Amino acid sequence: MTKTVEPVLPADIVEYIQDCRKKEHNQSYLISVLQKLQLRSGYLTPAQLDAVSQLMQIPAAKVTGVATFYHFFKFQPPGKHKVTVCMGTACYVRGAAKVLERFKESLKIKEGETTPDRLFSIECARCLGACALAPVVVVDEKVYGNVKPGEVRKILSDYQ
Ligand code: FES
Repeated sequence: MTKTVEPVLPADIVEYIQDCRKKEHNQSYLISVLQKLQLRSGYLTPAQLDAVSQLMQIPAAKVTGVATFYHFFKFQPPGKHKVTVCMGTACYVRGAAKVLERFKESLKIKEGETTPDRLFSIECARCLGACALAPVVVVDEKVYGNVKPGEVRKILSDYQ
């Protein structure tokens, strides 16, 4: 079985799964395994989910069900530029939902998706720790504060 999953899963993830399997309630480590795996490449592939299913001896449908339930997990490679729109309380009450809508309209993708040219992906965050600047958008490492929907195209043009 390990032979099948080796090319798909990094060796240390395989080891981690094997350690988890020795523990009580080993299926409860599924989310942790998927998180570690996603940290590697920014997203999960169907082959990786299959390999996790085999190694953890959890039905594939359950692994896929858990992975798709949580917005944290991605199934496409991230874009070259990651747009993160804060949807925390301070940002939300100051219009973050409209800012998010404008990004989605402009890029023609939903949150969690990547544009077909792989230039942008959109994510949401709960609080980016800059509430005084609400609503806040971060593109890669750059923080944009007090963002208005009308500024979205200008922000995107900095990266096109
Ligand atoms: S709620 Fe958006 S930065 Fe805190």
